[in-house]
Amino acid sequence: MREQYRKSAKSDEPFVWGASTSAYQIEGAATADGRGPSIWDTYCRQKGKIANGDTGDIACDHYHRYVEDVALLRDLGVNAYRFSISWPRLLPRGRGKLNPLGATFYDRLIDELLAAGIEPWICLYHWDLPQALDDEGGWPHRDSVGWFADYATLVGHRYGDRVKRFATFNEPGVFSLFGYAFGWQAPGLTDRQAFLRSVHHVNLAHGAAVDALRGAVRDAKIGVIHNLQPCHAASDKPEDQAAAATLDLYWNRAFPDPQMLGYYPERLADELAPYTLPGDLAAMSRPIDWFGLNHYSPIYARADQTGVLGFAWAGPPPDLPHSGVGWHVQPEAFRDTLIAVSERYRLPVYVTENGTGGKDAPDAQGRVADGDRIAYLDAYIGAMQEARARGADIRGYFVWSLLDNFEWGSGYRDRFGLVYVDYSTLRRIPKDSYHWYAAHIASDAAARATDPHTPPKP
Ligand code: FCB
Repeated sequence: MREQYRKSAKSDEPFVWGASTSAYQIEGAATADGRGPSIWDTYCRQKGKIANGDTGDIACDHYHRYVEDVALLRDLGVNAYRFSISWPRLLPRGRGKLNPLGATFYDRLIDELLAAGIEPWICLYHWDLPQALDDEGGWPHRDSVGWFADYATLVGHRYGDRVKRFATFNEPGVFSLFGYAFGWQAPGLTDRQAFLRSVHHVNLAHGAAVDALRGAVRDAKIGVIHNLQPCHAASDKPEDQAAAATLDLYWNRAFPDPQMLGYYPERLADELAPYTLPGDLAAMSRPIDWFGLNHYSPIYARADQTGVLGFAWAGPPPDLPHSGVGWHVQPEAFRDTLIAVSERYRLPVYVTENGTGGKDAPDAQGRVADGDRIAYLDAYIGAMQEARARGADIRGYFVWSLLDNFEWGSGYRDRFGLVYVDYSTLRRIPKDSYHWYAAHIASDAAARATDPHTPPKP
């Protein structure tokens, strides 16, 4: 076993244990210090879009409580923290003049992390497009490529002296499908053309941002984050099988293939031909340093000709194990996805999100006993270690998420944090899973201290 790990260890860098969050989900302070509105501020105000009418206006108030949150990260023992920058906090109208107060917030956060011995990993885009840019056409407009490249340059110049790890996008497959084809996320469109245009422009924006960051930051390690899951048909019917293949195309292939392999799957190339100019594929497939994989659970589709893409979402089979938010729990799917990603894209893989949601609550003693989450993390981290043992080049694991937070369409109903947040007082309570993850990281570090070849603990 030990020998197997040695063979799969493709790097001398210590395995990275981390935690992830995103700006709109935790920061709050939606109008503080000159922040402009994002498409999520607008979307949350549309009636019936978010459970309970919730918004990210206050969220975890991380903007004002980041010192406490960095202390939680430090005590958790993580080596790295992945967060996203709120584009409209830096550029309230998406482009033009920098908002100095917004930019200072991230200076302070980064400095606090470095002082705690935690490496900051910045994600440029976790879904909060400045509303002003959506008003000008948003991702369906080809000018978005230049807007994003300029924003990437600004972030690189501002923080690149202290930050070397950058991701361009978080889950382009998710925000374009849900935001432009299904209408379940901002900006809430159900428009096939807007969806296809967004796919192409986000791919181009990724390539342009890679170039921008390379130009702005010496020694940058640049990656991109994709949510990849096995796509299954709701039944054996041929039309449902075709629906699952379509979901797989848009969810799993539409972004990583052009970005890393330099081509679109054939069917997509035909669909995108009207928007594709000579040189586009070369421009989107700029060399990068790592692949960020977000993984939760297999997903299911059925045929539906009333949907703009000809398919609809389906629930997982009821007889399979489920998480507290109804997602199918299947660690082997994680293992197999990791192996497939490592083989297909030939890049070091970092798991940039994995975790589980539920309706956690403190008991009478104030303890949050989230045994389900511990069982999930134990099984999924074990599956990851199996993938490593089989040769997948996996260099790190970031749990989603540090804190309970604004979970998009479910608002504050579904909790994914290692730390419970009482939204009425904003008090943080580390859950049992927080202590479990801290012990897991500590025992891995202790094993490494005695034998540098010891693999991370399953
Ligand atoms: C991912 C998102 C993240 C969070 C988790 C549960 O798709 O990137 O923001 O919502 O799901």
